[in-house]
Amino acid sequence: MIVKVGVSILSLDYNDITVINQALMRVDTANSVHLDVMDGKFVPQKTFDHTLLEKIDTKLNKIVHLMVKQPEKIVDKYIKAGAEGIIFHIEAIRSPKKLIEHLKKKKVSVGIALNPETPLKKIEKILPDVDLVLVMTVKPGKGGQKMMKTPLKKVKSIRKKYPMKDIAVDGGINADTAYLAIEAGANILVSGSYIFNSNDPKLAIDLLRNA
Ligand code: DX5
Ligand code: ZN
Repeated sequence: MIVKVGVSILSLDYNDITVINQALMRVDTANSVHLDVMDGKFVPQKTFDHTLLEKIDTKLNKIVHLMVKQPEKIVDKYIKAGAEGIIFHIEAIRSPKKLIEHLKKKKVSVGIALNPETPLKKIEKILPDVDLVLVMTVKPGKGGQKMMKTPLKKVKSIRKKYPMKDIAVDGGINADTAYLAIEAGANILVSGSYIFNSNDPKLAIDLLRNA
């Protein structure tokens, strides 16, 4: 499968929209911008809300990674603000099926995210209904962490059962670890600090794509 790259803006000063829009111009060869929304409850950190999406100026697909409790309560604000994809955490919701149906009706792509320690069986029943699975390889909440390798086993088993499903790996992706994620079966790499710390972000994106 072709490898797609999602660029996370978590390592940038996301309170300054000029910084964000300038940074996004330097990564316009990516496939999507990965927007890490945190509510200070699901994870201790808080980042930005849907109003950031209204100010973002990019042609890239806006994919929102909701690290929030009860995501069903806020998804509509992000869809209205222009999100093309919503990824929510299985650990944060009681009835995922209802939210999946709702998101399909709203014609956005539906992703389910798994924390590193969450077993695959937690999403087994809903796997057929989602467009994407996001396997976290760092503890959610911060950028710039080292990739945890164990969650890659989940990537392997999902790929074996679902040869065509979008599987993203999120956390600690760089030129060395990208290969491990791809070899495990991921076809989407989410990366933030590696891309924005490099002096040639487009080259960094290329290196990830061809790892
Ligand atoms: C962590 C976020 C990740 C993070 C990735 O909670 O979900 O998307 O921003 O950042 P890096 O690539 O720096 O690990
Ligand atoms: Zn993320």
